[in-house]
Parts: sequence; C-alpha cells; structure tokens
Amino acid sequence: MREKIEEMRSMISRELTTDLGREGFAKLRERFLSRAGEIPGLMKEMKNIPKEERPAFGKIVNEFKEWAEAKFDEVDDALKKAELAAKNVSEAVDITMPAVKNETGTLHPVTLTKNEIISIFQGMGFDVFEGPEIETDYYNFTALNVPEDHPARAEQDTFYITERILLRTQTSPGQIRTMEAKKPPIKVLSPGRVFRSDYDATHSPMFHQMEGLVVDKNISVCDLYGMLDLLAKKIFSSDTKTRLRPSFFPFTEPSVEVDVTCCECGGSGCKLCKGTGWIEVLGGGIVNRVVLENCGIDPEEYSGLAFGIGIDRIAMLKYGINNIHILFDNDIRTLRQFKERQR
Ligand code: DAH
Repeated sequence: MREKIEEMRSMISRELTTDLGREGFAKLRERFLSRAGEIPGLMKEMKNIPKEERPAFGKIVNEFKEWAEAKFDEVDDALKKAELAAKNVSEAVDITMPAVKNETGTLHPVTLTKNEIISIFQGMGFDVFEGPEIETDYYNFTALNVPEDHPARAEQDTFYITERILLRTQTSPGQIRTMEAKKPPIKVLSPGRVFRSDYDATHSPMFHQMEGLVVDKNISVCDLYGMLDLLAKKIFSSDTKTRLRPSFFPFTEPSVEVDVTCCECGGSGCKLCKGTGWIEVLGGGIVNRVVLENCGIDPEEYSGLAFGIGIDRIAMLKYGINNIHILFDNDIRTLRQFKERQR
C-alpha cells in the first residue's frame, strides 16, 4: 500500500506543472482528488488492512491527501497568475491613442425661443397646458366660432384624418380645453406643433405656435397690450415698441394684429420690414363672448384676452433666419451655431 502511495506521489510530482494548461490540470485533479478519485479511493482499501495497522495507515493517507491538495493549489495559483498576465496583455489600453471626442448637443432654435417665451409669461403667472395635435373639428373650429364655410376648414388648407378628426391648424383649441376644465381666473399658455397644407419660403406644413389665454373679471385690451409689450421688450430689446392694429379672428372681438418695431433697423425702415419700420409678430384680441359661452363661462361676469404667437417666426427674427425650412432641415452646421446662445 505504501508503495502505491509513493508511486502516486512521484507521478503527481512529475506530471503536475503549469504546462498542463487549465484543461489538463482539471483532468488530473479529477483523477486524484474528486470524490471517486484515486486518493479518496485509498480509504476504501482500509478494510483489507489488519485492524492494528489501520490508524497508522489512515494517518499516512490523510497526510498524503493534504500534500496533494497543497500541490494542486500551488499549480492552480500559478495558472491563475499566468492567465491574468495574458489577459493584461491582450486587453491592454494604449493610453497614447487620441481620445474619442464627446460632442455635446444643443437645443433647437425653436425650442430656445419657446422656452424663452414660456419663461417670460411664467414671470407673469401663466401656467402651461399642452393640448393634443390630433383634434376634432369641434375644438379646432366650431367651439372657436369658426363658421362652417370658413376657408380654413376646406380640405386644401387642413389635413383631415376623417371627416371630423384633423391635425390641429392652430393652438387655439387649447383655449377651449382649458376653459372646459377650469373655472376663471385662468392664465394659461399652450405651446405646440400645428399643421396646415402650405409650402413656400415662409410657410411649412408643420410649424409652432404658442397660445395665450387670460380669463378673469374686467380683462381689457390694455391688459393684452401690457403683456405683449413686455414680451416684445424682453424677447427683442428694451427699446422695442409695440402697436396694435385692428384685425379679425372669429374667436376674438375686437381682434388685433400686433406689430413691433423692426429688430433689424430699429424702426427707420429696411429690407426686412419692407421700409415700414414695423414687423407683424402675432394676433390676439378680446375673447369673443360666443367662445366663453361655448365653454360655460358667463360673459357678463368674466372677460378674456387671447393671443397666438408664431414661435418659428419669432425665432427667425431673433436669429436672422430668412427661410423657415432652415429651421426644419436640421442641418448640423446650422444647429451648431446655436450652441453659444444657450443659457
Ligand atoms: N389662431 C390664430 C392663427 O392661427 C392666431 C390667433 C389669433 C390666436 C388671435 C389667438 C388670437 O388666440 O386671439 O392664425
């Protein structure tokens, strides 16, 4: 029996080296140390040994087993070290390579303008409500007092989904949705995308508007003028002047068109303002009592003001862009120029 142990010992000493590699090492360990392996197998021989020799034999087998385990652990450690060294070589990072540049993005000029307008009106206590882009003709037209035969309702001007469902042509339906959901006092802005079947240098089938609505007691054109004049001064420059011109919209009475002094020439007249010194920037007015009634608000008790701002138009004026499609082509070279303007 002792010879057998010595034979196994010399075999392990001979064969167990890192040259075996992971697989050979695992096989050899399996052969000697697994539950059914040769070393645990020695214990099973115990029954063939005279009783008085058994304790001594047990001791020898145990010592041999400990010796073998230590040997295997030693080679296991050496293999692990060699594996790690190989991994460090194969995954080495060349720190002299040029780094990959991380370019930061930029907000779109329309988003910049929208955020700026919102923050000006938030300073005056306005909330923001975003209505759906797909609307019913009731919210987009009927409730806003747009008559059945109004040209805007025609198929060549509006994108219809079904006879009664359409892509909103204006953010004004936000007024109706707000008044249906809330009792006065109301002070709300409703920004978003709008859609019209229109295409030339100053028109795009998709563009952006910002609706404003105030409903309270004793609201007048003076409130409208005051708010829009403040907007113009903040968004263009503090010496910008504002004027209201009579106009017509079905949902306001009286209605106005709002002009500001030309941001290019300051009012003396240039190509941008076609020599007039004034530029039209938005429409507004006093909410038509029919619209208040459509929303269950008593026009004897409350009055309102409303306005609709073309966000893209303001962005074009602010940033000196003369073709609306430049805003939506998303040419990266154009967009990069707005990086410095972000606050
Ligand atoms: N919805 C109008 C348009 O798209 C803009 C507008 C004008 C909105 C007057 C208003 C308003 O709220 O009072 O042309």
